[in-house]
Amino acid sequence: MGTVAASDAPAVDLADPGFWQLPAPARAAAFAELRRLPAPVFVGERSVGRSGGRTGDRSGEQSGERPGRRSADGPAKGFHALVRHADVVEASRTPAVFLSGPGVTTPEPARWVRLLFGDSMVNLDDPRHAQLRRIVSRAFTPRLITRVEDDIRRVAARLVDQVERHRPEDFVTSVAAELPFQVICNMMGIPEEPRRAILDQVNHASENTGVARPLRSRIRVPGKGLRALARMQGMVAELGRERRRRPTDDLISALVTADVDGRRLTGRELGAFFSLLLVAGVETTRNALAHGLHLLTAHPEQRALLLGDLDRHLGGAVDEIVRHSTPIIQFRRTLAVDHRLGGPDGPLLRAGEKVVLYFGSANRDETVFTDPDAFDITRTPNPHLGFGGGGPHYCLGAHLARQEMKVLYRELFTRLPAARSVGEPELIPSSFDHRVRALRFTF
Ligand code: HEM
Repeated sequence: MGTVAASDAPAVDLADPGFWQLPAPARAAAFAELRRLPAPVFVGERSVGRSGGRTGDRSGEQSGERPGRRSADGPAKGFHALVRHADVVEASRTPAVFLSGPGVTTPEPARWVRLLFGDSMVNLDDPRHAQLRRIVSRAFTPRLITRVEDDIRRVAARLVDQVERHRPEDFVTSVAAELPFQVICNMMGIPEEPRRAILDQVNHASENTGVARPLRSRIRVPGKGLRALARMQGMVAELGRERRRRPTDDLISALVTADVDGRRLTGRELGAFFSLLLVAGVETTRNALAHGLHLLTAHPEQRALLLGDLDRHLGGAVDEIVRHSTPIIQFRRTLAVDHRLGGPDGPLLRAGEKVVLYFGSANRDETVFTDPDAFDITRTPNPHLGFGGGGPHYCLGAHLARQEMKVLYRELFTRLPAARSVGEPELIPSSFDHRVRALRFTF
């Protein structure tokens, strides 16, 4: 294959906030176009109107200089967009080449985010990542999550009781956001009193990620969010000290008393981990639950299939919801060394350059999924990358999230079989997550 002409690059600029405000079908079509290119497109941080050009093509040659491309002096500002299933899997499973340490969100997080989340495991590489993950994953084994299942059932039953009693209009605030939040707080042993304030701060903290928010509010929120998150982390660190003295059977006790390789979590690590759990586990599950109700409403034949045999189809439905809606759109990595993607003839990525892994695009890759835009709860196999592409950073809460979704939908559809969304979900455009602000519903 020869060099790729700049004029061939599609008129798609993934760094442009306007792109993320396009309707979903237009974005899906743009990603389909990017997947057909012979090499990942390079997105310049300051490119205007169109992408900066193309990464060296799969024959290994480099295309000419383009806006935002690397220069002879070192890595250019911007990133290679990995949009194919195979490329996202490769980057996820080759952690010695594709580093998380320099940060995983795009655009670069504000300094306050790094201050709070810098120690958290998403932004660490081995050996520190492996060590921390060994400690915390003790609390997330399928066996322990099965124990948590009783609690998930209790919370789900209470939420559906409240829906019957108060007939709320919005599914997101009344059900989808509450379930994962209450479950994590119960796991961590967080007292009732500060929960409401914490949930408000989680919403602030994660609304700050992605490109779609106006500059003014992006600047204003961190001060508030920083103080609130810092307070929350202080509170969790204090709980940690107390549990170390008098352990109970909650997650905090397990984390502060676990001794892995002669090490246990420090107070700061515990606080950072709790913040990560809230941001990673509440928003994602809430958005998946809301997208799921809407998808099942928009596809009555799939809904009839599911409600006809919940035992048989619930697991498949949950994975198809995660594939189709892909709550987390992307994560970033940074090249540790020069690397050719896909083998010795692949495009050259240079040390220091960034790549962005587009999970949503990988989940619509037509070389992996037949009729990828269709919502099909019987899809088998369903090797979606909604929880990541595998490798050491694969979602720690994948099993918990699946359980929460299964339990909630079972409770909802068993007791209120007519439950369905009304109208379109109110979405918050973002390049980072498929966030639902509100979803009206009825039963
Ligand atoms: C539907 C719900 C969820 C989705 C779609 C989701 C998605 C993801 C994705 C895409 C990643 C990055 C994987 C990678 O970089 O390879 C991730 C990581 C992570 N997730 Fe989830 N997640 C969900 C629920 C949860 C829950 C419920 C928790 C915990 C309570 C959780 C905790 C984490 C943590 C701690 C990481 C970082 C793991 C590491 O860096 O080692 N997630 N998740």
